[in-house]
Amino acid sequence: MSDPLLVVRNLRVEFGAFTALHDISFDVGPGETVGLVGESGSGKSTLARALLRLLPAAGGQVVWRGENLLAMGAADLRRRRRDLQIVFQDPMASLNPRLRVGDTLAEPLKMFEPALSGEARATRISAMLERVGLSADMARRFPHEFSGGQCQRIGIARAMMPQPKLLICDEPVSSLDVSIQGQIVNLLADLQRDLGTSMLFISHNLAVVRHLSHRVLVIYRGRLVEVADRAALFAQSAHPYTRALLAAVPDPTHAFAGRALTTGDEPSSSPRSTGCSFHDRCPHVQPVCVGVVPPLEAVAPRHLVACHRWREVVYPKAP
Ligand SMILES: Nc1ncnc2c1ncn2[C@@H]1O[C@H](COP(=O)(O)OP(=O)(O)OP(=O)(O)O)[C@@H](O)[C@H]1O
Ligand SMILES: [Mg+2]
Repeated sequence: MSDPLLVVRNLRVEFGAFTALHDISFDVGPGETVGLVGESGSGKSTLARALLRLLPAAGGQVVWRGENLLAMGAADLRRRRRDLQIVFQDPMASLNPRLRVGDTLAEPLKMFEPALSGEARATRISAMLERVGLSADMARRFPHEFSGGQCQRIGIARAMMPQPKLLICDEPVSSLDVSIQGQIVNLLADLQRDLGTSMLFISHNLAVVRHLSHRVLVIYRGRLVEVADRAALFAQSAHPYTRALLAAVPDPTHAFAGRALTTGDEPSSSPRSTGCSFHDRCPHVQPVCVGVVPPLEAVAPRHLVACHRWREVVYPKAP
């Protein structure tokens, strides 16, 4: 394996007294799509924003190609930001309604490739609109003239315009009609395959994550609880929370509906300073789970689980 592009180490984010992310560590390799799944409020968007310094981290490192983004000055950060782009959940809200689509797509080019002529910019914009399944003449139109799915194609085009090396997609399809979701997911899969862009693909929809990801991170109440290659995650998950998520979708290959996967009705945002964050919903709970935060440990090569009782989860004793 070549060196990872992105290495996240012990990333921590606090909102006042509430810790939204605890010691998050993972990496993303070149050309790799890493899925991030977890129910609403688990910290997925917070993670996306902290990686890009759209909100401040309370600790840890975000190392991009060997340099810690969290320790960088504003000018250096702006230059690196070309490589890391984001697609947001709500495509309408993330586009400036007063800008023609062509002007929206020109912005990243003006910022990152200021030497480009107006003509060269227009050529790049036309090519990108066609690349995302729209047509070049749409550059003259305004966002309100487009459907939700088309707006998300524009959002993806804007993010891809500066030729990023990592695309962070924060629930890019969950606000769209189910019939449109598959088309956008396929577009992202095509871009990933053709351009080799790495992706961090955030969703609470396991079917979509399964379709796109080489590797999957499972987050629960601000902690990573399982990290595994796609096949291992879907066939041999070892964390009770992951198993609960999988059990909530009988056939994750066909469940494209953006359904929230919860296994209980307690809000997932309640703070937990001690013990496993899943202990109060876990069928395998023991006293150790209440008192001690389980570390992420390797249960197999490339398969990490934070559970004191993963052996019992994977190899249940006969009754
Ligand atoms: N600016 C903020 N101030 C205070 N708390 C916040 C802020 N942003 C997020 N939170 C809290 O942090 C936790 C994680 O929120 P986040 O939006 O990252 O979750 P999420 O996994 O993206 O959820 P969803 O699937 O609903 O998008 C939640 O408890 C949320 O209420
Ligand atoms: Mg979110």
